[in-house]
Amino acid sequence: MATVEGQRAIMLLLLLLALAQMSLTSSSPPPDPVACADGASNCTITNAYASYPDRRTCHAAKAAYPRTEQELVAAVAAAVAAKRKVKVATRYGHSFTKLACPGGNAGAIISTRWLNRTVRVDARNRLITVESGMTLRGLISAAAEAGLALPYTPYWFGLTVGGLLGTGAHGNSLWGKGGAVHEYVVALRIVTPAPASHGFAMVRELGTGHPDLDAAKVSLGVLGVISQVTLRLQPMFKRSISFVKRDDTDLAEQVATWGRIHEFGDITWLPEERKVIYRQDDRVDVSAPGDGFNDNLGFRPFSATELEADRVQDDLLQENGTDATRCTAIRTAEAYLESHAFGLTNDGVNFTGYPVVGYQHRMQASGSCLDTKDDGLKSVCYWDPRIRGPFIYNTGLSVPLSRAPAFVADLKRLRDRNPQAFCVLGTSGVLMRYVKASTAYLGKPVDSLTVDIDYYRSHASGTPRAHADMIDEIEQMALHKYGGLPHWGKNRNFAFHGAIAKFPRAGEFLKVKHRYDPEGTFSSEWSDQVLGIKGQSTNILNMGCAMEGLCVCSDDSHCAPEKGYHCRPGKVYAEARVCAR
Ligand SMILES: Cc1cc2nc3c(=O)[nH]c(=O)nc-3n(C[C@H](O)[C@H](O)[C@H](O)COP(=O)(O)OP(=O)(O)OC[C@H]3O[C@@H](n4cnc5c(N)ncnc54)[C@H](O)[C@@H]3O)c2cc1C
Ligand SMILES: *[C@@H]1O[C@H](CO)[C@@H](O)[C@H](O)[C@H]1NC(C)=O
Ligand SMILES: *[C@@H]1O[C@H](CO)[C@@H](O)[C@H](O)[C@H]1NC(C)=O
Ligand SMILES: *[C@@H]1O[C@H](CO)[C@@H](O)[C@H](O)[C@H]1NC(C)=O
Ligand SMILES: *[C@@H]1O[C@H](CO)[C@@H](O)[C@H](O)[C@H]1NC(C)=O
Repeated sequence: MATVEGQRAIMLLLLLLALAQMSLTSSSPPPDPVACADGASNCTITNAYASYPDRRTCHAAKAAYPRTEQELVAAVAAAVAAKRKVKVATRYGHSFTKLACPGGNAGAIISTRWLNRTVRVDARNRLITVESGMTLRGLISAAAEAGLALPYTPYWFGLTVGGLLGTGAHGNSLWGKGGAVHEYVVALRIVTPAPASHGFAMVRELGTGHPDLDAAKVSLGVLGVISQVTLRLQPMFKRSISFVKRDDTDLAEQVATWGRIHEFGDITWLPEERKVIYRQDDRVDVSAPGDGFNDNLGFRPFSATELEADRVQDDLLQENGTDATRCTAIRTAEAYLESHAFGLTNDGVNFTGYPVVGYQHRMQASGSCLDTKDDGLKSVCYWDPRIRGPFIYNTGLSVPLSRAPAFVADLKRLRDRNPQAFCVLGTSGVLMRYVKASTAYLGKPVDSLTVDIDYYRSHASGTPRAHADMIDEIEQMALHKYGGLPHWGKNRNFAFHGAIAKFPRAGEFLKVKHRYDPEGTFSSEWSDQVLGIKGQSTNILNMGCAMEGLCVCSDDSHCAPEKGYHCRPGKVYAEARVCAR
């Protein structure tokens, strides 16, 4: 038995290494999340993984692809006049939940795919105005052309400006206004419904200091379609990055201080190894030597064949693997990533050692798997749904920074009960980043530590996952013991249950929503549930619902009693209710 497991682990390692070593020059661009059977009608919409927590796609009667603000106004007006529900779709659609699904099956989708131009750069005042469908990649490069930089952004640049604002997406910092992109929005234009007497749609211009900006900056897409966004930038600067690996004995104290000492300092915890990779990452003057480049290994193109083989191994390790085989695989892959500086190079070609110093726009985000030379699906982003590769859940939660040390201390207690269980988190471990308190009604109310974890998802709903109880306990602990909040663009259903009550200014958000969209054109069942409108919940209570995070179990039938999984208290957080064997 041991020998067989050993061989399996070695196979997985070879695959992981082969994957990481690939340096492909082309990649098939990700699919458009919107597909229509008949021109622009009879459409489906999905996300970049072709899977929401409870279904693969949603339906819509119509799709529109406006190329100008005028066409956008016409598209909203047509939908309002026809009494259709509307949602905005983006070029790739990276949100995990059904945020972009219009209500019912007869709704309309407005894609921002072609709304991706730079409108204006005001270099003197360091402002840039872009259309909302522009990708983060496009925004970063347009700013850099004018010698300007966005200080803090998500690490993956395939997101669009409208989409990342919609869910409050963030990079990492406690400095300035903090790590969330919406903090740097100074103005925007949004198209909302209007009475018939005004032609069914109107453009609202929210200039600097407009009070409604606090609603529109993080809107879950329910206020209308953001047409253009103006962001405040900074003069171009350089960064100096070193990844420093240390043991995790003082992690609880470090989370309170690391982000104050290092402007871009995040923390990756590898619980099973009892190690932490600290990103020691600071701003340096543009005159500092170095032309470093970040091409994150995970966001590079991967060979489809290898991804498929990798998934076969993942399935095998899930079903028949042991903690030891999973941990060996992770440790070796992790060592590989570390020795390759996670994709950083000092000159765009080779990694020769830390620190890696380079311009902000070459370091802040990456995504070379987006490069659009079509090679017929030979190589793709690793989550591309057209091939049967890795399939995962992504949990993104935040806890108030003041409570982060106690939260981490609890996580360490859970870890100490079974360190090897944490290998199900893979090489990405527990990523911790910082976001500051926001004036946005749906932004973080207080300075916060965000926590990201990824883990295996089965294609067969209800299939038991290794150590799912441990993951559920972490999530419930963050949310319920430590006052945590879900990232609006990640997570499974249960994370949103009751979440809106933790946003002290949600009432003000709903007032703006009612004023902009009194008929609920931009609302759906899902967005009403997330916003707790009429007391609705995001939980789907049925047999086995807790196995996929569609609910928290309160009864054995929410787990899989026939497979030996029952609803049990958590091990460290006894109030948690998790499906355990
Ligand atoms: C590989 C990867 C890495 C990621 N890294 C990070 C990270 O570092 N930090 C982070 O915070 N998140 C990260 N995310 C999550 C991501 O930020 C969110 O899912 C984000 O909202 C997706 O943006 P999108 O452009 O794909 O928008 P979508 O998912 O398509 O849309 C999000 C919401 O915004 C609405 N919307 C979009 N455009 C408009 C508009 N013009 N007007 C009104 N509403 C609009 C949509 O209707 C929808 O409700 C990552 C995701 C992936 C896949
Ligand atoms: C929509 O398209 C599907 C196939 O993609 C087809 O089966 C269905 O009949 C179409 N519905 C309408 C109303 O045209
Ligand atoms: C805008 O999007 C289109 C379609 O996705 C793409 O071909 C074009 O290169 C994009 N333009 C910019 C400036 O990003
Ligand atoms: C796990 O082992 C069982 C019994 O040997 C086998 O039927 C099953 O296919 C294996 N699972 C995977 C994913 O290979
Ligand atoms: C950089 O990498 C290239 C190609 O991998 C190699 O030929 C070259 O010798 C390397 N240069 C240095 C300075 O390491």
